Amino acid sequence: MNPTPLLQFDNVTKHFGGLAVITDLSFDVQKGERLALIGPNGAGKSTVFNLISGVYPIDRGRICVDGVDITNVPSRKRIYSGISRSFQNIRLVEHQTVIENVLLGQHPTASSLVDLLHPGRLSKKRRWVQEAREALNQAGLTQYADLPVGALPYGVRKRVDLVRAVIAKPKLLLLDEPAAGLNPVETDELQRQLQDIHKSGITLLVVEHDMHFVDQLCTRVVVINFGNKIGEGSMKEIRQNRLVREAYLGADVAEGAQHAA
Ligand SMILES: Nc1ncnc2c1ncn2[C@@H]1O[C@H](COP(=O)(O)OP(=O)(O)OP(=O)(O)O)[C@@H](O)[C@H]1O
Ligand SMILES: [Mg+2]
Repeated sequence: MNPTPLLQFDNVTKHFGGLAVITDLSFDVQKGERLALIGPNGAGKSTVFNLISGVYPIDRGRICVDGVDITNVPSRKRIYSGISRSFQNIRLVEHQTVIENVLLGQHPTASSLVDLLHPGRLSKKRRWVQEAREALNQAGLTQYADLPVGALPYGVRKRVDLVRAVIAKPKLLLLDEPAAGLNPVETDELQRQLQDIHKSGITLLVVEHDMHFVDQLCTRVVVINFGNKIGEGSMKEIRQNRLVREAYLGADVAEGAQHAA
């Protein structure tokens, strides 16, 4: 018998007004997997993330984490189901320091945000600060810990955002275009950080346009277009998939490329 998948995105449909953005889409993410979700611009990838993290309710279908139906769990509580994410546009508090931003990621393990800020809870807070510093250390970011986020280069912010996203040890990390806007050195550093995050036991679901990055990081790929699944498999299988080639290249070009190959 197959083990229960970590994430079941089960027959999900979502409209925005009259526009069907996701249609009867199903895919699973297995525990410990590094799965890529790819597709052309506007295919619905970020929408899938917004549905998994509960930013929007779904119209039909079911979303389960570790066998538990979270379809009706409000967005702010999905972190307790073990879901964390990094956004296409980084969302850190620019005037606060790196360590303060990472501490904000701790709040699912705090009984409340007040816990984090209350002077009477100093020993707990001291432990969290210690954990945050250790996490920054592991990610090679110690030197930035006490600087305001606004003063940091984009690539460093991205890595800080990842430390923030995993400090509470989620089961599943959703990454929306993590390599976008990074130079080759920053991209390599990010790749290493994500490999380490995966090794620490966190399952990854990654939306990314950089196929080389996907190839290095992920073992399986799901391809969507216009909110439908058009392919699923290894990178090699996906590259040979006619529907996928057509979606990326256009039917005529894909046909020509097939003949030329
Ligand atoms: N809140 C919204 N209201 C209305 N339409 C939306 C909303 N969010 C997304 N859409 C539409 O849904 C479709 C899918 O958008 P989405 O952002 O999910 O695509 P994507 O695959 O992430 O694209 P990209 O690769 O460019 O980031 C697009 O047509 C978009 O305009
Ligand atoms: Mg997107």
